[in-house]
Order: sequence, then C-alpha cells, then structure tokens
Amino acid sequence: MHIYDLFEAPAYDIKQSKFNRGGQNDEKARIYKIADPNYRKFNPKAGVDILGKGVTAYAVSKKDKPHEVKKIVFEGDHPSRDPYFKFLKMAIKNQDSIFIPKIYSVKIFKYAKGSGDSVMYSYFYHIEMERLNSWKNLNWGQWSQLFNIYLGVTVKSLNVASKSKASDMFAAILSNIVRVGGVSKNAKIAPNSDLVDRLVLLTKIFKRGSVTLDLHKANMMYRITPYGVQPVIADPFYY
Ligand SMILES: Nc1ncnc2c1ncn2[C@@H]1O[C@H](COP(=O)(O)OP(=O)(O)O)[C@@H](O)[C@H]1O
Ligand SMILES: [Mg+2]
Repeated sequence: MHIYDLFEAPAYDIKQSKFNRGGQNDEKARIYKIADPNYRKFNPKAGVDILGKGVTAYAVSKKDKPHEVKKIVFEGDHPSRDPYFKFLKMAIKNQDSIFIPKIYSVKIFKYAKGSGDSVMYSYFYHIEMERLNSWKNLNWGQWSQLFNIYLGVTVKSLNVASKSKASDMFAAILSNIVRVGGVSKNAKIAPNSDLVDRLVLLTKIFKRGSVTLDLHKANMMYRITPYGVQPVIADPFYY
C-alpha cells in the first residue's frame, strides 16, 4: 500500500499516528520528552538539540539520527483547517520530487485548554522528516548553481549583492510562481519544469483561500547532496 492511501483515510485519527514507523509506545514516550514546552536547550543526556524555531514550530535533532529531525508544530489548528497539514498532505503525495521534504511519519495530538463551557482545543503535530539546511549554510557556489540549474538564469545577471539577498530573491521568484500559477510571461527566467509543477500544486491550495502564502527565505530549505544543492519547499503557508 502507498503511504498516501493510508493518509487519505476519510476520518482524522487524532492522537494516533497517520502512518508510523517503529514501536508506538516507545515513540510516544520519546516525543513527549522532546515536546516538553520547557525544553529549550541542548540536552546532552537525551541527545536532543533545538535546530531552529519559527512562529508555529521548532525542529529538534537526535544524535543517533543525524539525517533527520522531528518538527514539532505547537498550537496548530484542526487538521481540516491547519495550513501546515494541508501542505503535508500534498507533500506526502509528492515524495518522488526533490523539491518536497521527505516525510517519514506524522502524529497529531489534541490538547484541551480550559474546562467545561470554555474548553478550547489545540493540536500539535509531530513530524519525523529529513534534516535540511537553511539558506545560511549555503556558499556562493551553491547559490550560483541554484540560480543556474533551477531558475535558468545566472546569479550575476540579477545583480545580487549578498547571499542573504540571493536567498530573498530565490524565494520571491518561487513565491511569485505560486501566486501567478506559473511563470509570468515577461519573467526573464526559465525555471525547472518539475519545480514549477510542484509549485503550481500549492497554487491550488492557496487559491481556495484558506491559507496565506508565506514562501520567504526562512521557509525554503536546501538539501546538500554530493551532486549539488537542491531547493526544498519547507513551509509555504500561514493562516
Ligand atoms: N527539516 C528541517 N531540518 C532542519 N531544520 C528545520 C527543518 N524544518 C524546520 N527546521 C527549523 O525549524 C524552524 C521552524 O520551522 P518552520 O517549518 O519554518 O515552521 P514555522 O515557521 O511555522 O514556525 C525553521 O526555521 C528551521 O530552523
Ligand atoms: Mg517558517
């Protein structure tokens, strides 16, 4: 069975893994430990390291699995509304693409806040996924390669002055492809067609109006391979 057959089960099985690798009880104990809200610093005993924190999520590493991370989305919304979960569903159907993060498991937890009539629910998502690099880890050679191979344009011709500007521009071009639903006629770029295809899948979700496009440099990540660097759409939506 394909993982997405499991994933597209009609009812959301909250508090249980949608698809799972490894023993469930072990896994839960480990996740609760990692997801403790007071857990902020590197803990040599547990071998956990906070790799980065954004507005809705943070990512932790484990020493024994250097190639993957656990991304913990806190205060998420119900799976029928949550923007990151919408992206995850698309990502799981597109695991063949280099532009999409490799997702290994997803768990959804429901938390009650308050009690009685004033009870509110919040949802946490725990995602085991491949470890990726931020734009800060890339050098000029890699930026030059990214612009050449994936956008069909030289970084020089765009007058980009710094690596920070290069990452801004790269994300802005991708974001525009999602917004327009393709490459603008007057754009001076010739992007990789598979990249455009995957971006246009995001256009469909975005155009339904339930999410805001949020594809800036901190939400693009990069896969460094022996054959070159690959851009990965990591976190494209916001409420
Ligand atoms: N796959 C990953 N590998 C390494 N770090 C990650 C990964 N996913 C997320 N991070 C880190 O966690 C931060 C927050 O994740 P992100 O997906 O941008 O969530 P949000 O912006 O909604 O809080 C990122 O800026 C990055 O530093
Ligand atoms: Mg982010």
